[in-house]
Amino acid sequence: IPPRVIFSGIQPTGVPHLGNYLGALRHWAKLQDEASPDEKLLYSIVDLHAITVKQDPAQLRQWRKEMLASLLAVGLDPKRSIIFCQSQVPQHAELMWILSCNASMGYLSRMTQWKSKLSLPQTASPFDSPKLSSPALKLGLFSYPVLQAADILLYRTTHVPVGEDQSQHLEFSREIASSFNHLFPPPPSPNPSVPILVPPETILSPAKRIMSLTQPTKKMSKSDEDPRSRILITDSQEEIYKKIKSALTDSIDGISYDPDTRPGVSNLIDIMYHMDEGVASSAEELAKDFKGLSMRALKEKVAETIEVHIRPVGERYEANLRGATGDLADIAEIGRVGAERRAEATMREVREAVGL
Ligand code: ADP
Ligand code: NA
Repeated sequence: IPPRVIFSGIQPTGVPHLGNYLGALRHWAKLQDEASPDEKLLYSIVDLHAITVKQDPAQLRQWRKEMLASLLAVGLDPKRSIIFCQSQVPQHAELMWILSCNASMGYLSRMTQWKSKLSLPQTASPFDSPKLSSPALKLGLFSYPVLQAADILLYRTTHVPVGEDQSQHLEFSREIASSFNHLFPPPPSPNPSVPILVPPETILSPAKRIMSLTQPTKKMSKSDEDPRSRILITDSQEEIYKKIKSALTDSIDGISYDPDTRPGVSNLIDIMYHMDEGVASSAEELAKDFKGLSMRALKEKVAETIEVHIRPVGERYEANLRGATGDLADIAEIGRVGAERRAEATMREVREAVGL
C-alpha cells in the first residue's frame, strides 16, 4: 500500500471552540505525531470556503492569521505538516472549475450544506422552490462541495479526518474522482495503474459531536449567536468557569449519562471524557464515577479539566500571534510552497488529460 496522504481543512471564521478542538484539531495533531516519515499531512485554512457567506474583508484577514496561530497552538508543526492557506494555492480554484464542468446539479441539489446555511428544510430543491430563485442562493454556496472535492483531490489525498457531519461531502469527492478517472483514464505510461485523481477515505474523528452549552441539543458552533454556548481555546480561567457554571443541565438528582434524556449533563461528561483521554473506558463509565456528585460539583470538575487542557493552548496561541514562534507570514509561505508543489504536480496531469 502506498503511504497515506492526509488532508483536512478548517474555515477561518473565528477562534476555534472546544468542538473544533476535540472533534478536529487535536485529532489532526495526533495524526501528525503518529505519522510515519513517508506519510504526508496537509492542513489548510480554507478561506475560499469562508467567502461563500458574507464576509468582512478586514475581519477575514485577521481570522486567517488567528487560525494559523491556532493550528500551531494545538501542536501542528510546519516541519511535519504542510500548513497553508487555500487561497494562496490557485490550483484549488482551477481544479474546482474543471470538476464543476462534470459535476451533476442534481447531486449537488441533494447536499445539505447550502440548505442549512439558508435555513431551508433538507427536502428543499433549487429547482422547485420560488424562494430559491431569490438572490440568497449564491452559486458558490451551492457548489461548495465541488471546491471541497478539489481541495482533497488536488493532493491525491488518501485519507481525510472528518466529523460525522462531513461524510456526505466525502462521498461526493469519491464520486467526482471516479467519474473523472472514468472520463479521462491515465495515459498508458509511465504507470498505468495509477488514476489521476484518488478517491479518498475518511478517518472518523474519535470524539463525538460536542454540543452547545446553552442548547445541548444543537452542536457547539462558531456561528451560534450566544457566546456562552461555546468555550474558545483562548478563554481565560474565569470565562471557562463562568460558561460551564451557566451551562444548561437539568434538575434530576445525581449524575448519569443519557444523551437523549439528559443532553446537557451528558455533553459535560462527553467533554470531560474526551479531554482527559484514558481517564475512563467510556463516557458511561466516567459518569458512574460521578454518580453521587451534585451538579455544581460536577461542573467544577469539568471546568477544571477544560482549564488544565485548554489554557496552555490559549497561551501558545497568544505567543504565536505575538510572533514568538516566528513570523506567521513566513510560516504561511513555507506551507504555500509545499502545497503548491504537490498541487501543481497533480494539475499538470489533470490539464494534460483534459486537453488544456
Ligand atoms: P463550525 O461548525 O463551528 O463553523 P467548522 O465547520 O469550521 O466549525 O468545523 C471545523 C471542524 O471542526 C470540522 O472538522 C468539524 O467536523 C469540527 N467540528 C465543528 N463543530 C464541532 C462540534 N461541535 N463537535 C465536534 N466537532 C466539531
Ligand atoms: Na460548520
